Amino acid sequence: MAAQRVVTTNINGTQKSFLCEPRQTLLEVLRDNLDLTGTKEGCSNGNCGACTVLLDGKPVTSCLVLAVECEGAEIETIEGVATKDGLAPVQDAFLENAALQCGVCTPGFIMSTKAMLRENPNPTEEEIRFYLAGNLCRCTGYDKIIDAVQDAAQRQCGTACSNET
Ligand code: FES
Ligand code: FES
Repeated sequence: MAAQRVVTTNINGTQKSFLCEPRQTLLEVLRDNLDLTGTKEGCSNGNCGACTVLLDGKPVTSCLVLAVECEGAEIETIEGVATKDGLAPVQDAFLENAALQCGVCTPGFIMSTKAMLRENPNPTEEEIRFYLAGNLCRCTGYDKIIDAVQDAAQRQCGTACSNET
């Protein structure tokens, strides 16, 4: 076994140091070392988006990021999306629009949606489909996910966005 390294990050707003081997991915460390199992493993080769987390605010497939690369980084995972007051608007929107079935893809979609709405609070359907093209879903057929993302944008942006269109 290779020598373990200490990596210090901020995960969901909390300073976190962990030990990992240089070969371990961020996905492995989140799930196996830190018990943050909300981030899902689908393909493990960068194709499905199920493992998406935000690294310094940008969506990444955590199966393609080495944990040692995350020294000093801010990481956001699905566990940090809800607040003590309850689910976040994007989570409510996915639930109320029936945008999930098995749910394996859902954490990745929600993290990508959060990143997109920070960059573009009022995306068009085409922009949503383009931004989320790296997140695959085998169950829903995507339309309900698009509805949920549009709903989430409205919930977060409200009348300001309605008045733009
Ligand atoms: S598990 Fe990472 S992209 Fe599929
Ligand atoms: S809800 Fe099953 S893969 Fe998307």
